Amino acid sequence: MSDLDKVLAHIDADFDNALDRLFQTVRLKSISTDPAYAAETRACAEWHSKDLETIGFASEVRDTPGHPIVLAKNHEAEGTKVLFYGHYDVQPADPLELWEGDPFEPKIATLPDGSKEIRGRGASDDKGQMMTFIEACRAWKAVTGKLPIPITILLEGEEESGGANLPGFLDAARDELGADVAMICDTNMWDKETPAITTSLRGLCAEEIFIHGADRDLHSGFYGSAAANPNHILARIIADLRDADGRIQIPGFYEGVPEPSPELLAGWEKLDFSEAAFLGEVGLSIPAGEKGRSVLEQTWSRPTCEVNGMHGGYIGDGFKTVIPAVASAKISFRLVFDQDPHKIRAAFREFVKARVPADCRVEFKEFGSGRAVAFEVSAPAFQRTQQGMSDEWGKEAAFVGGGGSIPVTTMIKEKLGMDVVMAGFGLSDDRIHSPNEKYSLTSFHKGIRSWARVLAAL
Ligand code: BES
Ligand code: MN
Repeated sequence: MSDLDKVLAHIDADFDNALDRLFQTVRLKSISTDPAYAAETRACAEWHSKDLETIGFASEVRDTPGHPIVLAKNHEAEGTKVLFYGHYDVQPADPLELWEGDPFEPKIATLPDGSKEIRGRGASDDKGQMMTFIEACRAWKAVTGKLPIPITILLEGEEESGGANLPGFLDAARDELGADVAMICDTNMWDKETPAITTSLRGLCAEEIFIHGADRDLHSGFYGSAAANPNHILARIIADLRDADGRIQIPGFYEGVPEPSPELLAGWEKLDFSEAAFLGEVGLSIPAGEKGRSVLEQTWSRPTCEVNGMHGGYIGDGFKTVIPAVASAKISFRLVFDQDPHKIRAAFREFVKARVPADCRVEFKEFGSGRAVAFEVSAPAFQRTQQGMSDEWGKEAAFVGGGGSIPVTTMIKEKLGMDVVMAGFGLSDDRIHSPNEKYSLTSFHKGIRSWARVLAAL
């Protein structure tokens, strides 16, 4: 029996214990955005640090001005050095009444078709996902006495709340983080049979705008028409952002946006993606993005502009004839390579200012920003990861694009100069950030087994 076979057998035999460990971390309410949970977020970092010590890592909980970062090293072995990134913080669980059980009391649910899933906040994003990698390390250590390759593990506690302290940490800890390649487990499979490596992610530029009109709310009978109405000004701005064909109208917005290469498009073609099924799953049927672009292009290789929230005037029950003093919107852009978030933010602000009357005023509040990122998959680490995953699932792992954002990926590439292999076992119906978040039991089990193979292949 090869070492790998023994490790895989150990993973199967130890699976209930792996589940128990995942449950332990899910029980810790590491909600990074809510200051009320700061102590429990730290407790979660400490739990992970201690857990990594049991696998032979030299692990520390490093303070930042916000939530701590766990940095753990096990460099006993020779060979390809890996920097693994995960995040131990989670999104708030609300609205609580939509959960079928306590979000922080994980449990296994059995579906009508007999399949099982782990329910709880963070079961998938990112506790379940990151524990697949950690459990694979544990199994290698238990069976062979050491890891097969040198590994550094970095666990962030602020991914879900802006990640303000990560760039500084990466700069300061640069020398400790050096590796041949970085790996992240925070992305999805292509479908529940087909594993996937995500090779590109979109960037983000998010901004809240406040349109201020009169210095108080006004009676719309006394002042209607004569006084500027911030709701209407905001509506005009939002309407102007895209034309009827879905093209974003901010001057210079598409600068640096390339067409996907024929190779990439050919690969996506093979994925046999159904637009009808994709939209049908959420109760829609008509692609709403740029005309003449497939849904895969719209979500993987084209930038977006989305209004995530708007507020203005009276929105309670009943009616109030008022002209509000202020109207606001939260607007975010998903960016692709090689758009510059700072340029986009500046161009957006000019676009808005040009539409605000001289007796009104606009205020801008910056949220996060990050550049898009894309990797060439010819490097050996991508090929070996693909091999390991394909062997486990009995189906070739697909190279796919990603519509979401994982800001650390861009930072690792730009600050540390490394490729990042994003291999994950999430499914599109995991309800991450939503009530009843789940991780399929198969994702967890075969995810651990996949990483065990990938570590061997590396
Ligand atoms: N893990 C997700 C992103 C993700 C999920 C990528 C599935 C690919 C497949 C990540 O934790 C996330 O939610 N990111 C945020 C980042 C933002 C707030 C900066 C996002 O994409 O909205
Ligand atoms: Mn997330």
